[in-house]
Amino acid sequence: MVRFHPGPQGFNHARLAQLVEHAVYIRRVVGSSPTPRTMKIRHATLKDVPMLSRLMGLIIDSTHYYTIEARKEEIKKHNSKSLKQYLSDKKYYSCLVVTEEQEIIGFAIGRNEAGVFWADWLGIRKDKRRKGVAESLMKKWEEIFKKKGVHKIWCDTRTSNKESVSLLLKLGYKKLGLFDNGWYKQDFFLWEKNLI
Ligand SMILES: CC(C)(COP(=O)(O)OP(=O)(O)OC[C@H]1O[C@@H](n2cnc3c(N)ncnc32)[C@H](O)[C@@H]1OP(=O)(O)O)[C@@H](O)C(=O)NCCC(=O)NCCS
Repeated sequence: MVRFHPGPQGFNHARLAQLVEHAVYIRRVVGSSPTPRTMKIRHATLKDVPMLSRLMGLIIDSTHYYTIEARKEEIKKHNSKSLKQYLSDKKYYSCLVVTEEQEIIGFAIGRNEAGVFWADWLGIRKDKRRKGVAESLMKKWEEIFKKKGVHKIWCDTRTSNKESVSLLLKLGYKKLGLFDNGWYKQDFFLWEKNLI
């Protein structure tokens, strides 16, 4: 049995040791890979549309770097009706979802044109961020694209979207340049990654 005795100056060493032991246990259960074992990455289906469109709406609406008008438009572009159309067009669109216990906690959606893939949107539910989910999702996409003959991915980020800029740099994307006063009169960086 662990007994707690306050150490010198009232510092509780036994409690600290117990906390460290607990942290080691959590790490063992969750695993050391970036994506916890309970999460799965798969292609989205039409059945996912209601949950997916809700999540996309929430994430897009909470983006601090988009103007209100831009958010409204982007949410409209990813409502249930639009998503059904995109998901039905398998030749052009690709949409992956990350699930945890049947719940969608992340997505990546974009379109393929003549071997060049434009990544439209990537989003991870707020409470699941900073666990390596987006990184795993993007890597999975690349794996799939290579098999499908996609030779290049490109995308944009708002210049102020530090999280995405950092993610793309980590994944080896090359900044093509600044596209200022672009969509919705906002500033963007354009990026590319050659797969083949
Ligand atoms: C951008 C976003 C998808 C990242 O998802 P995530 O699952 O939290 O990212 P990951 O945990 O896989 O992080 C991978 C890398 O991304 C970068 N990153 C992610 N979150 C970051 C943050 N808050 N600050 C700085 N870098 C960050 C880091 O380089 C990180 O690598 P590291 O952990 O070794 O530092 C997520 O923040 C999000 O959904 N944002 C809102 C929607 C959005 O902006 N989508 C992109 C539109 S272009």
